[in-house]
Amino acid sequence: MEASPYPEKLSQAARLIAQAERLRLLTGAGISRASGMPTFRGHDPTWADYPRRRFATYRGFRDDPVGVWLWHNWRLAANLRATPNPAHRALAELEDLWERLGRDFQLITQNVDELHQRAGSRRILELHGNAFLARPDGTPQDFPEPVRLPPPPFPQIPMRDERGRLLRPHVVWFDEGVPESIRRRALTLMAEADLLLVVGTSGETVLARRLVERAREAGAEVIEINPAPSRLTPQSALSLTGRAEEIIPKLVSLVKLELRSSPG
Ligand code: APR
Repeated sequence: MEASPYPEKLSQAARLIAQAERLRLLTGAGISRASGMPTFRGHDPTWADYPRRRFATYRGFRDDPVGVWLWHNWRLAANLRATPNPAHRALAELEDLWERLGRDFQLITQNVDELHQRAGSRRILELHGNAFLARPDGTPQDFPEPVRLPPPPFPQIPMRDERGRLLRPHVVWFDEGVPESIRRRALTLMAEADLLLVVGTSGETVLARRLVERAREAGAEVIEINPAPSRLTPQSALSLTGRAEEIIPKLVSLVKLELRSSPG
């Protein structure tokens, strides 16, 4: 057998993924780092200089809705300039492949940047909402009809809906929790997993850790992709140390090779 050009761990991960019938993904800020989006913690965090208390909390919004909408306008403009990177695109390819094989694929993300959607992923559960959506202040987090924000610069600050109601970004702020309906859906998806790929998350949120634990309880293998150890590394059967934008495209190519060499 000719020497694999890939490190053994990558080939091993590809073999595990190729056998998975019910593949689950959990992604965090790290997968969007190469697209220029900020990360909060871990390897070389960049969110640190964002005044999160003031602009990314409900309390900050109540104190200063104009300031929060100005900041959100700036952040969304930056988000629109970002483009999906090879990691996002490779995961969208993997989803297409699983669909063609009639297998079960679901991506759960902590990101609000829509880069998975823009890369072509469709089976997505957003745990922390979506920065491109907004809902009337005071409505519940699982409000069924959030409105899509116009591309920045916003026509009015603070943003209001057509009835004049004050709007707030449809994201989970640092002083808010994930809606119960979303938590339940995410836990159910993890309980069905036979393989979980964890990409670019520090595992600092309780829910991220709970989701990985739930997958493990269901007997799923856990594979982590991260340049640095995270709080999820101890739960991972395999840790691929490195950047998602470098590792995932190679991994997906290897999975395709595996599937070709062992059809059925
Ligand atoms: N490829 C893969 N992982 C990377 C890369 C990269 N190129 N660059 C950095 N990372 C890793 C970091 O090592 C870190 O472990 O991405 C992770 C980013 O961790 P966080 O910044 O904590 O982001 P995340 O885990 O998504 O945070 C979860 O916490 O602050 C809240 O709501 C916020 O959604 C966020 C949640």
